[in-house]
Amino acid sequence: MQRIDLRSDTVTLPSPGMREAMARAVVGDDVWNEDPTVAELEALAAEWTGQAAGLFVPSGSMANLIAQLVHAGRGDEVICGQDAHCMHDEVGAGAALAGVQYAWIPGDGRFTAAEVAERIRPRTFHTPGTALVWLENTHNRGGGTVFPPEEVVRIAALCRERGLPLHLDGARVFHAAAALGVPVRELTRHFDSLSFCLSKALGAPIGSVLCGSTAFRTAAHRFRKMLGGGMRQVGIVAAAGVYALRHNVERIVQDHVHARRLAAALAGAPGLTVDPAAVETNIVMLGVPGDAPGLVERLAARGVLAWAPDDRRIRFVTHLDVDAAAVDRAAAVVREVVAG
Ligand SMILES: Cc1ncc(COP(=O)(O)O)c(C=O)c1O
Repeated sequence: MQRIDLRSDTVTLPSPGMREAMARAVVGDDVWNEDPTVAELEALAAEWTGQAAGLFVPSGSMANLIAQLVHAGRGDEVICGQDAHCMHDEVGAGAALAGVQYAWIPGDGRFTAAEVAERIRPRTFHTPGTALVWLENTHNRGGGTVFPPEEVVRIAALCRERGLPLHLDGARVFHAAAALGVPVRELTRHFDSLSFCLSKALGAPIGSVLCGSTAFRTAAHRFRKMLGGGMRQVGIVAAAGVYALRHNVERIVQDHVHARRLAAALAGAPGLTVDPAAVETNIVMLGVPGDAPGLVERLAARGVLAWAPDDRRIRFVTHLDVDAAAVDRAAAVVREVVAG
């Protein structure tokens, strides 16, 4: 039985072209800043995002933790959306290791400058002070939703006015750019710092790049070392990132077409709730009557892998290793399993 893995876009396998690029990579000791392929990746990432500098890190979670460590101190507050990945899916690292607490805004991860303004507070004798404003685009738990770009501009203006840094968890920001049909830097240049993942839609096996000013990079570089993220001849991995940025960006829209195709094939099936028009990028959140984890197990027994974020929802993520035929097969299996 051929498996169709829609648990996440992290499950992609490096393509033969990517593996060849990795094998050919010129490398050096990156802890000594001597790896030319890492330097190439970091320069490319800075150029793509309209930032001054990039820092290669092992994961999106480490990028998020470093950003909090750089911008906020112990007891400080970070304003973010209610379902932010940094708050729910990183083992409490922000609280445990950066010592921050979150002032979260209810909703699907999209919020307004006015909602941010309401939550900004000064550091006083009693209160934690706001140290950082945090956006996630696209929003994972929100179902791959795209943050409205005009609101990002308003939030950035507010942050500048109030002297607060603005950070973007852009694990899937290339999806947001593809959905809006704009260059990614149009979305990223408003931020003081941001990260994006190479290991998700872009199809690389490892890594994220944290981008910002040169001063931000210097501070982030120290924290990366502190967290054990200094890597040696890591150009062999960075080469996959360079390859991904050169070959796998334009095809991302295909993942959106496939996600909408899956949603359309499931819409209207008895017991299932999904609105294909609400699928903005590569994530489909399917509403089920209950026992989503049980359904996920039954789907897995039929070779379709998905993930249940809670009891009433199943998440499917499309990526470069699934084509239209696989999506159609997956939809047929889901309908049968739910009916059965
Ligand atoms: C929005 C978002 N941020 C950060 C991460 C963390 O990335 P990693 O799995 O590389 O630690 C993820 C992972 O899915 C994510 O979806």
